[in-house]
Amino acid sequence: MQAAYLFRLPQFLDRCHRRYGDRFTVRMGRFGTFVYLVDPNDIRSVFHGEDTAFHAGEANAPFLGRVLGPSSVLVTDDEVHLRQRRRLNGPVHGNAIAELVPLMTRIAAEDIDSWPVGRSFPLLPHMRGITLDVILRAVMGIGNDDPERHQRFRTTLADLVDIGLFRLAPFAFPALAGVWPWSRYRALQDRADVMLHGEIERCRADPALESRTDVLAMLVRHREDSGTAMTTPEIRDQLVTLLLAGHETTATGLSWTFERLVRHPVALRTAVRAAADGDDAYLDAVVTESLRSRPVVPDITRKLTKDVTIGEGPRQLRVPAGTFVDPAVYLVLRSPELYPEPLEFRPERFVGRRPEPNVWIPFGGGSRRCLGAAFALTEMRVVLGEVLRRVELAPTTMRAERTRVRHVTLTPHRGAVVTVRRRRYPPDSSDDRFSMRSTFARSSGVVKDRSSAASA
Ligand code: HEM
Repeated sequence: MQAAYLFRLPQFLDRCHRRYGDRFTVRMGRFGTFVYLVDPNDIRSVFHGEDTAFHAGEANAPFLGRVLGPSSVLVTDDEVHLRQRRRLNGPVHGNAIAELVPLMTRIAAEDIDSWPVGRSFPLLPHMRGITLDVILRAVMGIGNDDPERHQRFRTTLADLVDIGLFRLAPFAFPALAGVWPWSRYRALQDRADVMLHGEIERCRADPALESRTDVLAMLVRHREDSGTAMTTPEIRDQLVTLLLAGHETTATGLSWTFERLVRHPVALRTAVRAAADGDDAYLDAVVTESLRSRPVVPDITRKLTKDVTIGEGPRQLRVPAGTFVDPAVYLVLRSPELYPEPLEFRPERFVGRRPEPNVWIPFGGGSRRCLGAAFALTEMRVVLGEVLRRVELAPTTMRAERTRVRHVTLTPHRGAVVTVRRRRYPPDSSDDRFSMRSTFARSSGVVKDRSSAASA
């Protein structure tokens, strides 16, 4: 029964929280026993506990291992995990991300130009297209300078990392793996592996290898202190991991951002002005608040390799080895003690304030914190700004979209439906027409701020 509730995870977590408080245990048959944690002190114990006791890789491996491969940074622990993580650190941090901003802008602009004008449509597929193109280019160096090759990789790899609950069924029932239609996924993996291995070999032989800036080239160039290079299967596993972890999540985060903004005209208007003025601080606050009010990943898991103590003082809790402990991201980010009036969408919470590490946790925390957090935040800000500069988004009084569970993410159930119109005016914030009082906003009949009503 409890496992079945996972199909309605947010509602289930909410109900357990109301009934049992900040710690509750869910027993999911053969999957194991899960202790959900909401109190930031408990969560700190998990994020700052010994890595050797809190295994994220062991918790992820049963359902992601088949897709990602045995050396993926997401399914390994301890020394092996540290080594893989170190290798990826450089390519998805700092300067490497800053250099991708023009590319992110161009890919977003091209996609936005294809949007239908004047009728409603779901943004999620477009956001998926943008984030897939960005990650393909950033990770594998594949751009659309060779359209046929680009399309081939795009289709196969998007299909490979599209792992809905149905596709993951062999995780619960391994015998299904060889049976149609699940056997088709095995065939797809084989096809994708041939392509990926070919691409890795091509990269090794590339005369321009030294000057390439994509992750694949950096992994091929990488040498351990001992001088050893990464093997082809190791590189393949990290490539698939970055594609899977970085594409759907960011697309979903962006879709929720627009779903929230069109229901909050004041925030939308402020964001439009910020985009026009190049005020990144407000756009960052919109993204931060969106990931708070609609977290993409509702919970994260660690498997205990030994008995551990969670929490402090009289509230200490002994949890036995073999149990899973789950910081309940979704509940923490909606806690009224941590975020007053948590159901309200208010980017102002984060203007001029950095989010606190154990309390703002859409990217998890500790040594397993999302490796692509900076990448995702930059991409979300860039795409958000580009959309707001290029099109007018119509505010709406439609009810908030419900959350739908899609493998490990929570997506808007209608795909973040919006209506847009081309901007008629240059994005100049001093121009009074450049606001929600524009013709479009008047004709859509929605100009009042209904933030409170729409947000719940
Ligand atoms: C809005 C977008 C994203 C969200 C919400 C998100 C969320 C998360 C979360 C919750 C985790 C688990 C953290 C933990 O266990 O404590 C994670 C891990 C990870 N993410 Fe992200 N992620 C996003 C984007 C990205 C991007 C763009 C990349 C790559 C470019 C990426 C790569 C990874 C990797 C490699 C890990 C595994 C880290 C490890 O186990 O050491 N993610 N992400």
